[in-house]
Amino acid sequence: MTPRRAAALSWAAACGLALSIPAAQADPVAARGFAAATMSGPHRLVSDTSAPSGQPAQLPTRGELSKRVDLLDTKAVVITLRRGCSHRARLWLRMDRSRPLLITPGSDSWHTFQAPTSIAAGWHTIRLRPARLRRRAPLCATPEIDRVDLLPRDPGAHVLLGAAVRSQDPAANPLAQVTANPQYRTTFLASFDSLTPENELKMLYVEPRREDYTFGDADSLASFALSNNKAIRGHALVIGSQLPDWVTHPAIPWTRNTLLSVMQDYIATVMRHYAGQIHTWDVVNEAFNDDGSYRHNVWYDVIGPDYVEQAFRIAHAADPTATLFYNDIAAERSGLKQSAIYAMAADLRNRGVALNGIGLQNHTDLGGYPDRATIEDSIIRFAQLGLDVEITEMDVGTASAAGTPSERAAAQATAYAAAATACWDVAACRRLTVWGITDAVTWLGTEEAPLPFDVSLHPKPAYLALTHALHRGL
Ligand code: G3I
Repeated sequence: MTPRRAAALSWAAACGLALSIPAAQADPVAARGFAAATMSGPHRLVSDTSAPSGQPAQLPTRGELSKRVDLLDTKAVVITLRRGCSHRARLWLRMDRSRPLLITPGSDSWHTFQAPTSIAAGWHTIRLRPARLRRRAPLCATPEIDRVDLLPRDPGAHVLLGAAVRSQDPAANPLAQVTANPQYRTTFLASFDSLTPENELKMLYVEPRREDYTFGDADSLASFALSNNKAIRGHALVIGSQLPDWVTHPAIPWTRNTLLSVMQDYIATVMRHYAGQIHTWDVVNEAFNDDGSYRHNVWYDVIGPDYVEQAFRIAHAADPTATLFYNDIAAERSGLKQSAIYAMAADLRNRGVALNGIGLQNHTDLGGYPDRATIEDSIIRFAQLGLDVEITEMDVGTASAAGTPSERAAAQATAYAAAATACWDVAACRRLTVWGITDAVTWLGTEEAPLPFDVSLHPKPAYLALTHALHRGL
């Protein structure tokens, strides 16, 4: 029996505790429902066995339901619920002191709501309370609850560790030529599960002239990855930079329709070329400014803001099995940009557009890297929309920080650990990719020493922190 399995079983035993309702706050309906709670499954936290066929449990209009439980490696809280007599019925779910999650029952019929959350091993308090109701709202205005279950993390679950790789280095640094340099190649193969072509799949390189597709460099990275059993992230189909001149300076000005047909041809051609090889794509990259407004680029300026939606629709039609991401800088921090991304993602999901994930790039530095809670909150926020989340382009610049090189390396390891732990903690986060392997080859310049391996390809504390936080080698 694995340690995780043993822990899951002992945790299951702990779930038989009765839900505690403070006497002064309990109302009779709620008390009747939850007093009858029994454990009928290994991971059941609360169960009103009479619903949905009989009397459900109803949240008290004031106060909260709470339960303290010992558990490990939980990936989600699943609530089986329905609306009460009001369409405004909503409830808050809170784990310990973390940010509460607002849950809106989706219908009058019994259904499940899976609330992503991050629950480390140990004792935790789970609380449910109704969102504020209007004065004189009837008792039945709170949501009705049948069950609260805890979904364990799959014992075999793991987070992929990826790296951006270049097929060619403009500075002719031999370390960068991954398919040719044995040391670089060995380091990548031994240390990473997944490869992102750093530039090779961008339009500038793939379609330098209209309808003249050149897949040479991207193909060599793809075959290197696939022949070594590594996953590939496709980056990036629709991006505002690294575009060929024929797109940014057309001989005949684009109309919405002519540029949409260029986008259609590009996405469909590239995705079909890699169908069965690349399963995850950054479909749209960096559509927003820091203030949440759309960034100007040729796609936005000619097609309008729905270029994002159009790109996802085209991508889904080109390969319905692919996992489609929106990817952005600083999406890992709350703020105007993250809110704009969230609103866009919620809107696309509500309208059935095939957006499957959000990429949090996490380019950062020692001057102000996001801590674990910040990233975890961000992952959970997007996961609540039913989206996968990945950390897609992490690096941590160090040049401007004070301290000795070894102090800076230790601080950098803390920054990597924060992101990796956040990703490990929330099941919706499936992969953390670093934007390069070695400080010898990075878009930031070697002096920033931003990556997990040094210029001689020796692992830095950052790499050890990543492997530790991602439980690699356990
Ligand atoms: O291909 C030319 C080469 O022919 C020429 O000799 C050389 C001269 O310096 O330049 C080469 O192009 C460079 C290209 O990378 C390929 O190496 C460009 O100058 C250089 O600007 C370009 O930078 C890339 C940058 O995106 C462009 O915006 C970086 O390598 C790449 O790491 C970076 O990646 C982006 C992600 O795609 C999106 N998120 C942000 C991230 C960092 O900016």
